[in-house]
Amino acid sequence: MSGEKKEGAPSSYFIGKKEDLIQAKRITTTIDGRDILVVFHQGIFYAMDQYCYHAGGPLVNGDIEEFNNKLCIVCPKHKYKISIAEGEGIYKATNPREKVPTARWYSKGIKQRVHKVSEVNGDIFVTLSEVPGWIESDYYQTEKGKEEMKKNLEEPDVLDDPDC
Ligand code: FES
Repeated sequence: MSGEKKEGAPSSYFIGKKEDLIQAKRITTTIDGRDILVVFHQGIFYAMDQYCYHAGGPLVNGDIEEFNNKLCIVCPKHKYKISIAEGEGIYKATNPREKVPTARWYSKGIKQRVHKVSEVNGDIFVTLSEVPGWIESDYYQTEKGKEEMKKNLEEPDVLDDPDC
């Protein structure tokens, strides 16, 4: 049963059988009131908050691509790139003060809360992140954030900057 707490490990939750999750490739689930996306990609499981830190876009529908040697999920809403292992927001930009402006990758820091995935005898568990403090994706896990997210998702997708 999804979202069931693992005995003896207070913050680990059973989310499914390994084989089923490999076949599904992606699932969304709610554990301890938090909406989570679990992804199986190139032999590794990842878990993160389900809604994009920028405006609550549905990361479950995002492509996974490599940028600057980091595997990132690309939010389908405005194409923000988020590293799936760390939750780091990255973007490419040029510095107009340079003599020859050259596009480079920059980090926005950790923006998306990521969670730990572990396996015990073919069962997969998620342990919710206990990183203290505010991480931007926390907002879309709140009631207020979810209300705002619904409004945001009704608006058409606008791509200001394809490198964002
Ligand atoms: S909502 Fe994800 S990039 Fe804007």
